[in-house]
Parts: sequence; C-alpha cells; structure tokens
Amino acid sequence: MKPLLIVIDGPAGAGKTTVSKTLAARLDYKYIDTGALYRGVAYEILARGLDPADESGLARLLADLDLRFERGADGMRLYSADVDITDYIRTPEITMLASAASAKPIVRQALLDLQRGLGKQKAVVFEGRDMGTVVFPDADVKFFLTADLKVRARRRYEELRGKSNQRLEEVENDMQQRDANDSGRDTAPLKPAPDAVTIDSTDKPIDNVIDEMLTGIREITGQHGA
Ligand code: DC
Repeated sequence: MKPLLIVIDGPAGAGKTTVSKTLAARLDYKYIDTGALYRGVAYEILARGLDPADESGLARLLADLDLRFERGADGMRLYSADVDITDYIRTPEITMLASAASAKPIVRQALLDLQRGLGKQKAVVFEGRDMGTVVFPDADVKFFLTADLKVRARRRYEELRGKSNQRLEEVENDMQQRDANDSGRDTAPLKPAPDAVTIDSTDKPIDNVIDEMLTGIREITGQHGA
C-alpha cells in the first residue's frame, strides 16, 4: 500500500508509546516520539543551568540546538550534538521541565521544522500532542488515544517502578499537572484534531487498540495490506 503518515496524539499514560511502536512495527514504518524532542530541550535547559523563563537564554539555546534520532539496536536513540541522551530524559525532573518548556511558543516553533522534515518520506508513525492539529494537519490517518487519569497514572507508576521512587499519588499529581499544562497552554494545546479517530484505552487491552487502529487505517485509506 502507498506509504502513509500516521499520527497518534493524546495525554501522558494513554498507551501512545506502546501502541505507536507496535503499529510502526506491524506496518514496517518508522516510529518517531516527538515528546523526546521536548525532553531533549529540557535536558539542555538543565545541562546549561538555564531558567526556563529566561527567553533570551532559551533563544540562544534553540539557535544552536542539534537534536537528531539515530536507529540503535533497541530502537531509536536521541542525540544532542554527539551525546546519546536517550537514557537521561525520563526523570521526573526532566518530565516536568519538558512540559513547562513545551508551553513556550519559541520552543514549539524551533521543533516544528525538525518534525516536519522527519515526516517527508511518509511511512512514519508520529507520537505527540499536536501532531494532527499543528505539525501535520494533512496527515493521512489521525488517532487521539486517551484514558481515565487514574488508569494512566497507575500505568506510568508501574513503568517507573525501579527507576523512580515516586509514590502513586505523586505520579498522579504530576500527571494531572501536566494534563493541565498541556491542555491549557495557548500554543498548540493538547486536543483531538476535528478529523481524528478517538480511542479510549481505559478498559481496552493494547492488542484491541492496535486492531481497532488497523481497521481504522483500512477504512480511512480504503486500502488493504495493513
Ligand atoms: O510524550 P512525553 O510525555 O514524552 O512528552 C513530554 C512533554 O512534551 C509533554 O509534557 C508535552 C510535550 N509535548 C508537546 O507539547 N508536544 C508534542 N508533540 C509532544 C510532547
């Protein structure tokens, strides 16, 4: 079938990463996690000891930002200049800083061309918050994956076990705060594109979500072979 550009948006913990990676593997597509780019900016803010409210410091950082993905043995790795930062961008501190940085229009603007460049060849599944609304309004297929806050917090808590000593309530509070930041910001707030297919994964196993998406892709494109 003709290569497609597929986007999956939604709040943290809805299952986007597992679903996007699985879908990309089933279709033999590339998978791009755009949240990692915002985390890469947060990593650099922290590494340079910048105050995220310092707009001119942020502008300098963005002017020489050099983030890129490279395929590694176990999936895509994120590099900042020549440093592989993949293993350092999932801490609770970077998570909250990425959310704050992502509300800044200059940060979003700096990452826009980078993301669009990655979609040029199609045959990609993009995961993010504003893929269907802002970055790729003409994407071939758009999904919005969501789930109840409590279910999302528990999933994230289980993912973090052994890597972080945050309690479930802390994970839930951080997530609620991030939901509010991501949905309430003026620039590119988290919301479904008008033409997105919304899937609620609260009571749905991941396999069922994938099946529903593959069916949706066939229906939307009117093609077979997925
Ligand atoms: O998906 P994630 O949790 O790794 O994303 C980290 C932060 O980046 C999240 O708080 C929202 C922001 N983000 C965004 O604003 N737009 C995107 N396309 C992806 C992520």
